[in-house]
Parts: sequence; C-alpha cells; structure tokens
Amino acid sequence: MSPLPKPLLDVVRGQRQPRPPIWIMRQAGRYLPEYRATRAKVGSFLELAYTPALAAEVTLQPLRRFELDAAILFSDILVIPNALGQPVRFETGEGPRLDPITPKGLGKLRPENVVGHLAPVYEALGLIKSELTPDKTLIGFCGSPWTVATYMIAGRGSPDQAAARLFALTQGEAFARLIDILVEASIQHLVAQFRAGADVVQLFDSWALNLDEAAFRAQVIEPNRRIVAGVRAQIPDAAFIGFPRGAAGMIAEYAETTGVNALGLDYSMPVGFADSALPRTLPVQGNLDPLRLVAGGKQLESRAESILAGFGNRPHIFNLGHGIVPETPIENVERLVRIVKGS
Ligand code: CP3
Repeated sequence: MSPLPKPLLDVVRGQRQPRPPIWIMRQAGRYLPEYRATRAKVGSFLELAYTPALAAEVTLQPLRRFELDAAILFSDILVIPNALGQPVRFETGEGPRLDPITPKGLGKLRPENVVGHLAPVYEALGLIKSELTPDKTLIGFCGSPWTVATYMIAGRGSPDQAAARLFALTQGEAFARLIDILVEASIQHLVAQFRAGADVVQLFDSWALNLDEAAFRAQVIEPNRRIVAGVRAQIPDAAFIGFPRGAAGMIAEYAETTGVNALGLDYSMPVGFADSALPRTLPVQGNLDPLRLVAGGKQLESRAESILAGFGNRPHIFNLGHGIVPETPIENVERLVRIVKGS
C-alpha cells in the first residue's frame, strides 16, 4: 500500500471520494496534436510502444493538459500476440493486422519469451513512475484472453467476432490451448507491470459481447478469474479493474466470480441497473458514450451529471464507456474534466 493518498487507487480499493477521480480510456492518442507529432517521429506504432522514452512521453501528454487522476501506460493489447511470436502490424487508418493463427500454429507460440520481449514496456513504466507526482495512479493493462484471441484468430478486428466464436465451437481443444497460453502470458505480463511500478491494472475484454451466457462464462469470466488469481498468487494485493464490454446481464456474475476490485462499465450499461445489480461497496468506472464527448454542448453536461448522480452512493471513477475517438475536440475534454471536478 502506498503511504500517500492516490484518489483513484483509493476508489479502486473501495474508498469513496468527495468527487470521483477521472481518467479516459485511450487518453493518449490521435485527438492530441502532441501525440500525432511524437507518432510522426517513428516508422510504426509498435516502434512507439517499444521505445521507452517515447512511450513514456505519450503516456504523460494527456496529464500535462488535463487534470486527470491517472496515467495509463501507452502500449497495446496486441503486444501479447507479438511477444508470443505472431507477426502483428498496425496499418495506418486500417487497424491491426495479424497472420491468423491456426490449430497447427499454436505450437509455435512461445509464452516463455513474453517478458523478455516486452522489457521495453516495463522500462517505460519505470520512466513514467519516476515522473508522476505521488497523487497520480499509474495504470497498467492487458487484453483479456477472449478479446486477444479474436484478433489472433481472425487476423483483424471484426464486427461480430464470428471467426473466433466458430473456432471456439468447432475446435474446442485448440481453443482451450490458445486460452491457456494467453492466460499464462497475461499473468507474466501483468506481474512484470506491477513490479515495474503499476498501481493497478485494467483487463480489457473489449469484445466480450455477442456471446451467449455459457460462452460468456467459459470465454470471459473463467480466463479473467484465472488471471486475477494467478497474479495474486505472486502479488497478493494486486488491484484490478475489469472491463467486460457488453457484459450486460452477466455483469454481477463477472464481478463476483473474477474477483476484480472494480468494474469498468460500457456506455450501453444502464446506470440504475448497474447500481442495483452490483454490491453497494463495489467500485464502478464509467460510463459516458465517447460520441457525447465529440458532440459536446448541453447534452454532454446533462449526461455526465446523471452518471455522477447515479453512482453517487458508491465508489466511482468517472470514465468513458469505451475509448476516446480521434475526432474529439480538446475543449470538450477540458469541459468534461471541469464537470467531474465540479470546478
Ligand atoms: O488508453 C491509452 O491511452 C493507452 C494506450 C492503449 C492503446 N490501445 C493505444 C493505441 C490501450 C489501453 C489500447 C488497448 C486496445 N488496443 C484495445 C482495448 C480497448 C478498446 O478500445 O477496446 C484494443 C481492442 C486494441 C487493439 C487496437 N489497437 C486497435 C483495434 C487499434 C486500431 C484502432 C485505432 O484507433 O486506430 C489499435 C491501435 C492503437 N492502439 C492506437 C492507439 C493510440 C492508434 C494507432 C496509432 O496511433 O497509430
């Protein structure tokens, strides 16, 4: 436990604050001109993520502009497949591309290489930690196995994750092996992030939608539970924010079974439903629609205020319900931070 108060980490650990702390998913990114300038200095997105000084620089950029309570490591969920040995490319304007994994190709994945390959990421965390004031929380993260598997199997993002869902249904044994590899790699990656200075980690299950309840239990809840338990076997007080986007009616079961400290809610989750479905003491994070931040104006203020009021009786971290988009006007982010801080 840290001797000086960190409001955001304190909320993750269950302590309500007079005003909710705030961070923004994908807060380092293309909506910031200084991010675009740093990004232009390197040939590829992965080079940016794997150059410690530059990754630290873009991580800190949003905190210089806005009164945010946390820095989130600048990296990506797809560094895990990359570290396992699967080629990953980020093509400008098109999103990530991977050589799709086949059942035969699983034997070539190398979980034992993950921490060595990702050494620059841990070095970046050390640099960020040394620059942050003690009241700021440092967030590490990884993609959850299901979400990472959807990219490894399809080779790209897809609207319905059909390739991965079919792979799980028709090649159960190979799928289970892939999930085992990802659980193991994620545990090692997260333990290394905590050792390098992360105060809390977020598990991004951004594609935990489109699953029936049995698939949600097997592919979302169980792997996330194993990761939380596996990290805590080495770091007993490790703090987790789970973000199962699209969990809908499965949200309470996800929270209870995985053992995460706090729950990231997507913007389709009704505030009143979440507040009544989840234990009073469970901290929640969210959940403004990122497009409300693009549109700005009165609707931004009134929706932000109803989220603040709706979670006013429990530990709450203000955030978007998914990542900020490149079209977001900077003045709207400034305005949102003022609304949340009450300033
Ligand atoms: O939040 C932060 O500021 C930390 C950095 C971060 C990035 N990606 C940087 C990034 C984090 C936490 C992520 C997580 C991530 N990556 C997720 C889960 C969160 C979510 O939004 O659902 C997913 C699904 C990915 C995979 C990924 N990486 C996609 C689909 C893309 C392309 C989409 C896009 O916006 O272009 C990326 C690339 C990426 N990761 C960018 C950034 C800033 C943009 C690429 C660039 O700047 O060249």
